[in-house]
Amino acid sequence: MNNNSIGVFDSGIGGATVLKEIIKILPNENYIFYSDSIHNPYGDKSDDKILEFCDDIVKEFLDKKCKAIVIACNTASAKSADRLRKKYPQIPIIAIEPAYKMVHDFAYDKTTLIMATKGTIESEKFHKLYDKYNNHKTYLMECVGLADIIEQNDEEKIDKYLNENLKEYIGKVQNVVLGCTHYPLIQDKIKNVLGNVEFFNGAPNLARHLKEVLTEENMLTDSTKKGNIEFIDSSNSELKKERFFNYLLF
Ligand code: DGL
Repeated sequence: MNNNSIGVFDSGIGGATVLKEIIKILPNENYIFYSDSIHNPYGDKSDDKILEFCDDIVKEFLDKKCKAIVIACNTASAKSADRLRKKYPQIPIIAIEPAYKMVHDFAYDKTTLIMATKGTIESEKFHKLYDKYNNHKTYLMECVGLADIIEQNDEEKIDKYLNENLKEYIGKVQNVVLGCTHYPLIQDKIKNVLGNVEFFNGAPNLARHLKEVLTEENMLTDSTKKGNIEFIDSSNSELKKERFFNYLLF
């Protein structure tokens, strides 16, 4: 089943929120999902370290003869996508980014909170995006440690973190950009604190873009059967595997 698969990766479970959107419009493809949980969180690691982790994952996907790669991690995209594309021009590499352009296109006049890792917010790639689409009513929030506790599935810590760190934005923001692929997993909890905000998630756009690329490159599967999903976790956690498939199912 490995031949012709699409390789999707993240520093952990967060990338499942991207894969779920992809499967909605490309259900017949085969996928290999790589969760690099042993190195989670990426958000506070150096650029070189992140590139090294991502490079190893890309090599594994190439060994498994993947036809395309999706970087389902905003931090990894910001830090490594350009360099990986240069190094591996033989394979399409599609990378997620915070959905700030969507705010520009659909909700420009609304106050916006961008939640992302420190690594994403500090990156040059993010700064270019921010400068290009700046609505001048945007707060940037470096959510240090948040992806980590989502990865651990520690509900109590997540609630505490959100209550403490989001309170200054209550009543102030109308849009929230989920700039880390782990955050859609706690969207309801964010809503519980901030109230009625509109969420922006880059995953549906990425899925459409992936479909366009596969169509242009004539790479879409011709199978009409539902595709397979292989799950690999770098810390070999059975619990993560269970959480991953449960999330995709519901
Ligand atoms: N899911 C990630 C992202 O989209 C990475 C979180 C982390 O490992 O710090 O940025």
